[in-house]
Amino acid sequence: MQILSSELFPTLVWTTFFEDHEAFNARLLELAYRFREKDPDGVQNTNTLGWQSRNVIQSMPEFQPVTDRILAICRQIGVSQKLRENCRFDLQAWVNISPPGASNAVHFHPNSHYSGVYYAKTAEHCGEIYFKDPRTPGLMYRPPIASETAFTATEVALGAEAGRMYVFPSWLEHGVRPNRSTSDRVGVSFNVRISDPAA
Ligand SMILES: [Fe+2]
Repeated sequence: MQILSSELFPTLVWTTFFEDHEAFNARLLELAYRFREKDPDGVQNTNTLGWQSRNVIQSMPEFQPVTDRILAICRQIGVSQKLRENCRFDLQAWVNISPPGASNAVHFHPNSHYSGVYYAKTAEHCGEIYFKDPRTPGLMYRPPIASETAFTATEVALGAEAGRMYVFPSWLEHGVRPNRSTSDRVGVSFNVRISDPAA
């Protein structure tokens, strides 16, 4: 007997890759380290050991090349999700410089719709981002699983790669594994809040 299935309520994590990442990231790295010099304390959030800037780079003209791309990508995702036309997209973005040993505890991003990360500098084992299964009632009583699939995994890790961006729903819990490389992982993280301009 044939059994068919439907995918209900799928959770999407989007990714894109900047083909021009070498030159793009060289400039971004320069700006990231310069910003840290100006504000060495940054903010303490979910970051252990790493430096995180304040959520202000969307207002800094020098960061506009990256913040413009983030917004363009999120708008494109919005089209794929059939959001109403002419929605307003408000961005908040910040820089992360995560030295060896740095990690981020599991968290989600309140008061936001889309969140994401763009990698400017990575190395092997520099700290994957991992996502937690949001279907929490299903975690209460799991059947014995011989081999995990996308349908039964409770945690999925995605690799950090210079030039890559991930965007995910802000409610999706995630963390970053410790940087086990010998160099910094540098990236830009962001939140995008979407609203009806007429509201
Ligand atoms: Fe996050």
